[in-house]
This record gives sequence, C-alpha cells and structure tokens, in this order.
Amino acid sequence: MSIPRMPEPDYDADMRVSLLFAMAAVALLSAASMQASDAAGAQAATTNDGVYTQAQADTGRELYDKVCASCHQPSKFSGAEFTRAYGNKPLTEIDAAMAEMPMDSPGTLSRDDIASLIAYFLSMNKYPAGTTPLAGQVEALQRITVAPRQ
Ligand code: HEC
Repeated sequence: MSIPRMPEPDYDADMRVSLLFAMAAVALLSAASMQASDAAGAQAATTNDGVYTQAQADTGRELYDKVCASCHQPSKFSGAEFTRAYGNKPLTEIDAAMAEMPMDSPGTLSRDDIASLIAYFLSMNKYPAGTTPLAGQVEALQRITVAPRQ
C-alpha cells in the first residue's frame, strides 16, 4: 500500500514552513557566530600587552642572524620602517609578508620559527615581553594588533 501524497496547496505550505525553519536556523547560527567573535574579541590584544617572551625573542634573533641577515638588515623590521609596514595591523600581516621567506629556501620556517621571528621584531621595536610565549598559529596572530608604543 502506498502512502497518499499531500495535495498541492499543502505542499506549498510545507515549503513555507521549511523556509521559515531555514531562516530561523540561519538567524540562530549567525547569533552563535557573533557570540564566538565577541569571545575572540575579549581575547584581543595589542603588542603593548606583553604578547611574547624574552626567551622567544632571543631564539628569533639567533634564527634571524642565521637565515635572514644575509639579505635583510634588522633595521628593515624596526623603527619607522616597521611602523610604516605593520602599524595598526594584526600580526598576521608580518606572517604573510614572510610567507615566501627565506627567499633562498622558502617553506622551511615552522610556526614556532615564525612566532620567534615576530617576537624578535617586537623586542627590537621595544614592545614589552611577557610571560606567555607568542603562538605562531594564524588564529592567534590575528588577534594581536601592532599598536602605537605606550
Ligand atoms: C636570499 C635572500 C633573502 C633571504 C635569506 C631572506 N629574504 Fe626576505 N626578502 C628577500 C627579497 C629579495 C625580498 C623582496 C622584497 C624586498 O627586497 O624587500 C624579501 C622580502 C621580505 C619580506 C617582505 C616584505 C617587505 O617589506 O619587502 C619580509 C617580511 C621578509 N623578506 C622577511 C624575511 C625573513 C624573516 C627572513 C628570514 C627567515 C628572510 N626574509 C630571508 C630576500 C631574502
């Protein structure tokens, strides 16, 4: 025995109901994602907040001397030049700028290496060190903005 089909008008009503449910679901989802970004916002930081450790900056300096210094003066990443390039931008900008570096062997930097190099740059720019190392993951770097020095 086959199940009787809904007549046409009810089918339309069903469609409207599913559409309503879909819209409600979208509204709920966007509310949830707004809450998520609020939570991320709560963790937002600037380079004045001690977002790297001194040990990390020292590691970054050694790495820089070994694999970057042959082509770039450290002054490229400090003072006015640093501010001009990265001021008021998230740390992901520095990460992105280094994506093809070192030019003679791209793809050899680990996320930790990148975090150490950024820590070195922040220390050169006299941003304070803190007690928690900078994480190299993009999501973490995204939350930290290069602010005017306090
Ligand atoms: C073999 C030479 C060489 C090495 C080694 C090298 N770079 Fe570069 N780098 C370049 C060249 C060439 C460019 C192109 C633009 C330029 O000249 O600034 C560049 C560009 C950049 C940029 C792009 C942004 C800008 O302002 O031009 C960054 C950031 C950077 N390098 C960082 C690094 C870091 C960090 C290292 C070490 C991990 C490194 N580089 C190693 C040659 C090199």
